[in-house]
Amino acid sequence: MSEHQYFKHHVFFCTNQRDDGRESCGPHGAEAAQKHAKKRCKELNINGEGKVRINSAGCLDRCELGPVMVVYPEGTWYTYVDNSDIDEIVDSHLVNGKEVERLKIK
Ligand code: FES
Repeated sequence: MSEHQYFKHHVFFCTNQRDDGRESCGPHGAEAAQKHAKKRCKELNINGEGKVRINSAGCLDRCELGPVMVVYPEGTWYTYVDNSDIDEIVDSHLVNGKEVERLKIK
């Protein structure tokens, strides 16, 4: 980890919601998933400076593969279905540094 890096992991959930019929992450539970991830990181006390930051984001331009989230600095993209997927990403990737292969977007 770079000494200048404020967060060890910075996570962005696309929570964009479109009304024009085009695919978007919002209608697939993105906001609830982002809140769940935030809550879990807080419970595990891995949130904050030098640790993890969970943010909502607008469209990340991978709409057809959504719902999507991305973890930096690795640039690892994930999709998810439910809270147990989010828990697995938090526990494995954010806590133990091990990417969750089965949820990665290739
Ligand atoms: S709407 Fe989520 S990536 Fe575009």
